[in-house]
Amino acid sequence: MIKIAVLVSGNGSNLQALIDANLSGQIVGVLSNKADAYALERAQKANIATAVISHKDFPTREVFDEAMHQQLLAWEVDVVILAGFMRILTPTFVNKWQGKMLNIHPSLLPAYKGVNTHQRVLNTGDRLHGCTVHFVTAELDSGQSIAQSAISVKEHDTVASLANRVHRLEHFIYPQVAEWLCNGQLTWKDGQAYFRNQVLKDPIRFASW
Ligand code: GRF
Repeated sequence: MIKIAVLVSGNGSNLQALIDANLSGQIVGVLSNKADAYALERAQKANIATAVISHKDFPTREVFDEAMHQQLLAWEVDVVILAGFMRILTPTFVNKWQGKMLNIHPSLLPAYKGVNTHQRVLNTGDRLHGCTVHFVTAELDSGQSIAQSAISVKEHDTVASLANRVHRLEHFIYPQVAEWLCNGQLTWKDGQAYFRNQVLKDPIRFASW
């Protein structure tokens, strides 16, 4: 069985969706860089091992990432899922998990990489917004996109209302893509994603698009 670690920094609603999805892989550990992340409580309630590795205890990103890597090796992890993990990862760390590490981002990538995506969508006046699951590569929010789901932005929308609706999409598409990685329908070879043995050209679009 594929062993999964989920990396978190905060609330962990995506972690909860992954737990509730009963994936064919097993979540063997939840690692947080913040001791007060509510995600840790969610993991404990589900009897999943937790670890806190605070970035503040390390002089550089490199040694912080190496400490996380050692924890992942100790858990004998095959797949790493970033779920609201708010630290930028070093290329050295990312390269060790290439093709095995997923992230979910609250925008329709390649639009709005980085933070404050909902506010930036409102500022620009976009009518379409959503979320993207992608493989993680060294450049921030730039690995190949695997799946996207979208909402239309309404006149009365606020950061909170957009965050709310996008979160609901996230909780649907992230467990689905994680399951594909666990059951071998989603693979990665030489910098390219494959879905059901075919080169994945464009992200898979989920309903409500
Ligand atoms: C999500 O919006 C996700 O897209 C982003 O961080 C947020 C995490 O939320 N990467 P939660 O902790 O899973 O509730």
